Amino acid sequence: MADTPNKLAQTLAALGVTEPAQIPALFTEVRERFDSQVSRPMDLQAWEILRQSWLGRKSGVLTQITDNWLKPATQELKRGVGQELNQLRAHVESKSEERRKSIESGAEETASARERVDLSLPGVIRPIGSHHLIRQVFQQIEDIFFSIGFSVVEGPEIETPYYNFEALNIPEFHPVRDDMDTFYLDLPKGATQPLLLRTHTSPMQIRTMEKRQPPVRVIVPGKVYRRDNPDATHSFIFHQVEGLAVDTDITFCGFTGTIEYFVKQFFGPGVNTRFRPSYFPFTEPSVEFDVSCPFCGGSGTGAGGGTCSKCKGAGWIELFGAGMVDPAVYGFVNYDPKKVTGFAFGIGIDRLAMLKYGIDDIQVFFQNDARFLRQFP
Ligand code: FA5
Repeated sequence: MADTPNKLAQTLAALGVTEPAQIPALFTEVRERFDSQVSRPMDLQAWEILRQSWLGRKSGVLTQITDNWLKPATQELKRGVGQELNQLRAHVESKSEERRKSIESGAEETASARERVDLSLPGVIRPIGSHHLIRQVFQQIEDIFFSIGFSVVEGPEIETPYYNFEALNIPEFHPVRDDMDTFYLDLPKGATQPLLLRTHTSPMQIRTMEKRQPPVRVIVPGKVYRRDNPDATHSFIFHQVEGLAVDTDITFCGFTGTIEYFVKQFFGPGVNTRFRPSYFPFTEPSVEFDVSCPFCGGSGTGAGGGTCSKCKGAGWIELFGAGMVDPAVYGFVNYDPKKVTGFAFGIGIDRLAMLKYGIDDIQVFFQNDARFLRQFP
């Protein structure tokens, strides 16, 4: 409340005021209380509450003084109380008004300071990000394959064993599964089949052929997972681009020609390719593609005359696995193996990027060290 309530609620007689000389002290006390309240920090809302508590008609301090001190005062005291009350009212009104103005101008000052724009200040410089090198390599590969009529499809990273293995001609207990020991997911009770993180992008061969009829020409960029121990060339999460082309007239020649075209576009015309026999259950025949070492030009000799450290003197670097689609796979997608032929490949993107940009540790792709990332704007 604005003032000592018991004094304001009592008559002068009850307060023991009988002489006019006692009156000024009483009003001085009230005025000091007002002065202290009006000078406190406040906004317009608090100011309105203060004004009401002093000047409000029903129960403001000045009304209480009128009702309890002035009206019941003896004739002898009435004059003095009236004079003091008038002075107090004038004081309270003028000080309140003064305070309102100062609050308003203060608020305006703050608002205009907030809104003022100093055009001479330097702007906020936000660092511009760039695509991760892996994303850039994906893009380069996509551009090359777009140019020869392939399109991009993407698929789930969580797969069923059927798509990851069985439909790719890898039945349960096939030894190839050991090379792709993988992460199986904890499943809720009652789940009908196991789920796993895909170990390669090849399941998308099946998903694509289930949905589309030949001709099919797609590439599939994406993340894959294997329980491999991390070292300079292995990570338990890495990236692949799958490729699949199926049509009525695809030959082994068309297959090697396509791969060669891709490799020369990606590394430059100076590199050569070769392929060696290999084995994948879902391609027949299967091959491994090598590229002539882009660092020593295929000579096997490093810049200082010693053995090239990248290809270990071989002059060739292993690039990726591929092959003609095994006819057994067509049986899983209801394609007629007598009518269609095709090829597929699966490129390890991290190692491809390492090779192209001379990076000697695959782990840097996953550490997100800005000093590394900044080198590939
Ligand atoms: C496959 O994954 C087959 N799906 C590829 C394929 C597709 C063959 C279509 C035929 C037809 P592979 O297990 O070799 O194959 O892996 C392909 C590439 O992934 C390897 O050449 C390598 O570059 C990369 N790779 C494999 N394991 C890792 C790993 N732990 N860390 C980084 N890269 C890896």
